[in-house]
Amino acid sequence: MRPIKSDSLGIGLRTDHIADLCKPNHRKDIAFLELAPDNWMNIGGKKREQLETLADHYPLVAHGLSLSIGDTAPLNLDYINNIKTFLDDYAIDVYSEHLSFSRDDQGYLYDLLPIPRRPENIPYLADRIKTVQDILERPLILENITYYHRYSQEMPEQEFIAALIEASDCRLLLDINNLYINSKNHHYDPVAFMMDIPKHAIDYYHIAGHGVEKNDTLIDTHGHPVSAPVMALGQKIINSHGKKPVLLERDNNIPPLQTFCTELKVLSKHLSYGVSNESSDNITIRNRDHDTSDKISDGHICSAGH
Ligand SMILES: [Fe+2]
Repeated sequence: MRPIKSDSLGIGLRTDHIADLCKPNHRKDIAFLELAPDNWMNIGGKKREQLETLADHYPLVAHGLSLSIGDTAPLNLDYINNIKTFLDDYAIDVYSEHLSFSRDDQGYLYDLLPIPRRPENIPYLADRIKTVQDILERPLILENITYYHRYSQEMPEQEFIAALIEASDCRLLLDINNLYINSKNHHYDPVAFMMDIPKHAIDYYHIAGHGVEKNDTLIDTHGHPVSAPVMALGQKIINSHGKKPVLLERDNNIPPLQTFCTELKVLSKHLSYGVSNESSDNITIRNRDHDTSDKISDGHICSAGH
């Protein structure tokens, strides 16, 4: 299996692209695929066969949707154990989730809501993160989300994230588009934000397009190509925090795979990333032997061989 390297570019797995991605000759311009385990756990039949084929063709990373690390209910241990089984079955070492909550006392909300960024919440979150990491036997990689509501008396987001990393040893999936959107909607400097984010904690980046409402609010639609300002911010962040794998997301207005790969090519040009693995440096990434404890903190996303 090809490794995921520090200048690898991947795409989020979308149903529309599965048939093309399962064709015998896998694409050299896609270094890895990110999938939502929630959509692929406990499946059988044709869908399972497709997943086996995809796992043979491409390294996989998992990006979950339902962990709800920040809510006040007990962690859903059945769900976390199912994730663990899925990750083990497909030898996926990289598991990311959202720094958010998505449950209330009625159940799942199907939305990612911001956690109040208060100092007293950090030990609570760190305990939950450690529990998840212990069960999964992998680091938990948390993503900065977009938010459209602010609670009173909050810490700056970057200070909250840095403190949480310090307290829990979690890792960070930095979503460049989310950072850009929040910086515009809440009026702060995204480059200054990054000064508080420890380089060593970032495992990979997300990048995506966004929409603009009539009142100029930016919305995290994942329905457009990456905008020029987001691309420029990505360049700055990579210059300051180093090359890490980049994942191009798209959830709406999904183009044909070939068109999407053309967007990957544009990304590779702007970010000076390798289109194929052959051109990249050889920073890797731990093996999938799962003796993780001394390898987790190497700051690089790891290969998911199958
Ligand atoms: Fe993202």
